[in-house]
Amino acid sequence: MNEDKLGGRFTFPGTSLTVQRIGYGAMQLAGPGVWGPPKDPDGAVAVLREAVAAGVNHIDTSDYYGPHLTNQIIRQALHPYPAGLVIVTKLGCRRGPDKSWPPAISPEELTAAVHDNLRNLGLDALDIVNYRAVGSGSDPAEGSIAEQVTALAGLQRKGLIRHIGLSNVTAAQVAEAQAITDIVCVQNNYNLAHRRGEALIDDLARQGIAYVPFWPLGGFRPLQSTKLSAVADRLGATPMRVALAWLLHRSPNILLIPGTSSVAHLHENLAAGQLTLSPETVAALDGIAGAAGEAPHSARW
Ligand SMILES: NC(=O)c1ccc[n+]([C@@H]2O[C@H](COP(=O)([O-])OP(=O)(O)OC[C@H]3O[C@@H](n4cnc5c(N)ncnc54)[C@H](OP(=O)(O)O)[C@@H]3O)[C@@H](O)[C@H]2O)c1
Repeated sequence: MNEDKLGGRFTFPGTSLTVQRIGYGAMQLAGPGVWGPPKDPDGAVAVLREAVAAGVNHIDTSDYYGPHLTNQIIRQALHPYPAGLVIVTKLGCRRGPDKSWPPAISPEELTAAVHDNLRNLGLDALDIVNYRAVGSGSDPAEGSIAEQVTALAGLQRKGLIRHIGLSNVTAAQVAEAQAITDIVCVQNNYNLAHRRGEALIDDLARQGIAYVPFWPLGGFRPLQSTKLSAVADRLGATPMRVALAWLLHRSPNILLIPGTSSVAHLHENLAAGQLTLSPETVAALDGIAGAAGEAPHSARW
């Protein structure tokens, strides 16, 4: 696939990191509940290799997926990493033996998590690390994140982290973090049916900062909407491809990290970059928010 068909390119602000706007989220590679090994380990390796072969150069992960296993699969599949591949990871929780996701946000825990990511990914430095704020489940909640961002900035000065991003944050938290260090991306819950934080997307676009929606397809229970299906039928495309094309159209600073454990779904998602939406189609899709069922999610991350 021609790389320019993956939604075009985006450079993280103040960095030399340029990625295709359609990337890949690795969370679906672990076992059920983002816990334990995948049912099909060879299939997980194949999805990663296929993504990179198709031009994907932005992979989103965390060491708490699995835990550890997802990063180890990325390393197995892709190390030594091809030039230009940007791996973005996140910190902010750990996994309990009961598969829970308790916060892990002390400076000591964040430092340990950076070292876990480095070891399991086989890297000397991490390209971008997102601090994932606790928030209110999968949506942001106000509260200072200064201690955590200061800790990451210290690890950046030591050369362990190249650039810093945020996840599950409000506009006020972004501003608080920017007073401490440069922020290159924000990863919040956003998709056709779940549209909190519209103003934040536009504000970040003005600053050239990437907005990377998590759950771009709705997450563990992908989007279902009769309106979306009707639009997709009209375009001769699948609903998931249309949902991703809508995100690409929403703002030029939006980068996609859809997750899948399937090579067929991967190719369907990458093809979103070749779908042009007319103003009428965009208007029809804009009307979906609040109409499609916002799937309740069983896990927070
Ligand atoms: N910062 C955070 O707090 C946070 C939270 C959640 C996720 N994330 C990141 O965001 C990435 C994306 O989120 P996600 O993977 O949870 O959810 P998602 O991308 O919204 O959706 C993934 C789900 O959609 C299915 N799917 C994918 N492509 C499909 C297609 N073409 N047709 C039908 N079904 C399809 C997948 O199943 P199949 O495997 O069967 O394709 C999976 O069930 C994650 O991988 C992770 O890196 C970050």
